[in-house]
Amino acid sequence: MNNIGTFLKTTVVAFLALGAVLAASARERVSFNDSWRFAKGDQQASGASFDDRDWRELRLPHDWAIEGPYDFKYNARTGGLPVVGEGWYRKSFQMPKSAKGKVVSIEFDGAMYGSEVYVNGKLVGKRPYGYIGFQYDISKYLIYGDKENVVAVRLVLEDLATRWYSGAGLYRNVWLQVTEPTRVAHWGTFIKTPEVSDHEATVEIDTRIAHAGRGTFKGSLETEIFDADGRRVASVSSDFATSEDEKTLTQLAKIRNPRRWDTEDPHRYRAISRVRNAKGQTIDFYETMFGVRTIEYTAEQGFLLNGKQTKFKGVCLHHDQGPLGAAVNYRAKERQLQIMKDMGVNAIRTSHNPPSIELLELCDKMGLLVQDESFDVWKIAKVENGYNKFWDEWHEPDLRDMIKRDRNHPSIVMWSIGNEILEQRNTNGEGAALARRLVDICKEEDDTRPVTAGLNHYPQPHDNGFAEELDLVGINYKPSMYAEVLEKYPDRIVYGSETSSCVSSRGVYHLPIEKYEKHESLQVTSYDLIGPVWAYPPDIEFHFQEQNPRIMGEFIWTGFDYLGEPTPYGGRDNSTNGHWNGDWPVHSSFFGAVDLCGFPKDRFFLYQSQWSDKPMVHVLPHWNWEGMEGETIPVYGYTNCDEAELFLNGRSLGRKVKGVDTTRIIVKFKRYDSDHLDSKYRLSWEVPYEPGELTIVGYKAGQEVSRKTVRTAGKPAGVRLTADRSVIAADGKDLSFITVQVVDENGIACPTADNEIHFDIQGGGVLAAVGNGNPASLESFRLPKRKAFSGKALLVVRGKPGASGLIDITASGEGLDSSRISISLEN
Ligand code: GAL
Repeated sequence: MNNIGTFLKTTVVAFLALGAVLAASARERVSFNDSWRFAKGDQQASGASFDDRDWRELRLPHDWAIEGPYDFKYNARTGGLPVVGEGWYRKSFQMPKSAKGKVVSIEFDGAMYGSEVYVNGKLVGKRPYGYIGFQYDISKYLIYGDKENVVAVRLVLEDLATRWYSGAGLYRNVWLQVTEPTRVAHWGTFIKTPEVSDHEATVEIDTRIAHAGRGTFKGSLETEIFDADGRRVASVSSDFATSEDEKTLTQLAKIRNPRRWDTEDPHRYRAISRVRNAKGQTIDFYETMFGVRTIEYTAEQGFLLNGKQTKFKGVCLHHDQGPLGAAVNYRAKERQLQIMKDMGVNAIRTSHNPPSIELLELCDKMGLLVQDESFDVWKIAKVENGYNKFWDEWHEPDLRDMIKRDRNHPSIVMWSIGNEILEQRNTNGEGAALARRLVDICKEEDDTRPVTAGLNHYPQPHDNGFAEELDLVGINYKPSMYAEVLEKYPDRIVYGSETSSCVSSRGVYHLPIEKYEKHESLQVTSYDLIGPVWAYPPDIEFHFQEQNPRIMGEFIWTGFDYLGEPTPYGGRDNSTNGHWNGDWPVHSSFFGAVDLCGFPKDRFFLYQSQWSDKPMVHVLPHWNWEGMEGETIPVYGYTNCDEAELFLNGRSLGRKVKGVDTTRIIVKFKRYDSDHLDSKYRLSWEVPYEPGELTIVGYKAGQEVSRKTVRTAGKPAGVRLTADRSVIAADGKDLSFITVQVVDENGIACPTADNEIHFDIQGGGVLAAVGNGNPASLESFRLPKRKAFSGKALLVVRGKPGASGLIDITASGEGLDSSRISISLEN
């Protein structure tokens, strides 16, 4: 058969590799990301003959909103960026005559928002929900031969449609696929492991066969299973005949001495499904990655992974990638997850929508547990133009599709049917009935995982029948109620689905320590105490989790800062509707344990001290308090060691014992009847300020195991560049993240520097983004310059596709010695 890839004028590396090992007529699936044209604005651009020659040419994934500019006319709640409005994407391609009679499908991993897809001027389908993937059979709309086909996609984003930055555009990958009429259906395999022992795993493979041909098809389905080393560990073949549109075949296989998927050893098996015709020729080929593992939840022991009790050390994550916006990037996601793992995280909640496939693939690979969440809203609106408008027509297909797409991922250990759904308050049973219906849908699609939701009201959903419908009861922000819930409902399995919501700006400290609602600087102190009325410091959650060991752990709000929802600035709480521009220019969140660029805030280390076993110490604040000589500075130490000792310019200021010595912190939030906590999770010292060196040393069993020093810096004199990776692939996608640190003449980090740094990028690379983690900065993410924030900025570069050699980067700033770094490109 002709090589369709070359006709498509797309890069088809994966296709070519696959094609070589397949019989000529098996499935072909190619990236459809290249050579799109894009324009914003209301217009009628669906027709094949529409002239798009002056539109911008680009490669997907693409997020038009991240390009900016920021403007007061946009809602700070959604990032102060142009997420609203209409946008069009068009692409021309040819389809060879040899594809006639086959099934040609186009697949969007997601399209933000309200997509309409046209092929040669004909509407093929609409899909409002921006987070869901979908595929259309476009065979009948195509012209085969050397004439051009045009696919056009219209997207419309309304103002006040979400509570955070959604991004805008074809922000996930697009694929084109050609199959024979009889094939494995879209998301057509479901692989379960109903029985698992050390000795043997029973693998049940349900394969849906789609059949678009006339008459009866007779053939066979063969499924082979390979381990990570490529060894074939099982194989099963079944003859079948079908004349139906879709038919499910169930096969059973056994894997001897199975290697489990685990957080420590996330081993996956690969199943290869082959559909053969009566002559034994392969006419379809489909790959599914899966894991062998057991999950179990009990009221007494909580969550058991492969029989081992496991607490959720979880983070909620929105889908954006900070300065890179919402356009999905594998490396950016991998880096985010690696930073989370370094904090001690073992679980991700995909708040509050189906995530990208890349995120799930990475969680499988990196051994992270996932709560896969479907909705932030049902029928009752949270914001004016939310998903509730589409609820009646779309919730069922959206929920079913999320599960069909995701159910082979071993990382997913629960489905969530919603976050803080307002129906939870219904006293007439309607909310509970709807919850039951959604739980039933989940079970119909997957009977192997429990269903949960995040409840924030108290006590209504616990008493009105709503919580009863859930397998796992997620509680948002009510740690002081855990004991009451467990006592009243001893059979319920409960965890903190959203916790803390503490806010802070990286590297910013306000003295004296006080709990305020807002600060005139439009920043928030990093003494890790501030939060809106429903929020509380991390220590409070640690405390109540410890008091209630049956609680299965927590998912903090949030791991990363995200674009939009700049609480405490703008709107006061989630029910503040309309525009959140009251404290402009603040436009992105303060909730993250790391900032928008992935630089850890102090809270990162507080969680690390609780969640990680690797010996660590951390000390705050910075040590640049010019003019405050002799005044007392509160110093906090976070550690997982037995003891920590603080030294100022070499003099010991005393050892403190973790868990015994406490720090009194101010606490004020709903349902907590004291105004403080004597926290055993942080150590503290009152230190009269003198410039120099502040060192914290951690001891285990009396031995020093960890130390960290902060130093008083002089005036900014230069820039230090540190790349996370100095060799990257020249594929136009891979990224190097370069930390830009302003330093004094001795190379000491300047913790308050805000110098503007200019970047010159030469050789085979281009700028992907810049950032600094300042939620109030209106600087562009796309220009080769950035002010430092608390001494740091981030530069992200990518290689030009096919380039080789080096990317040479120079960073300079007024009054600063310039600095250079090179990144090598690999082909
Ligand atoms: C929760 C909500 C999150 C976020 C958070 C901020 O109530 O579920 O999406 O808004 O508050 O604290």
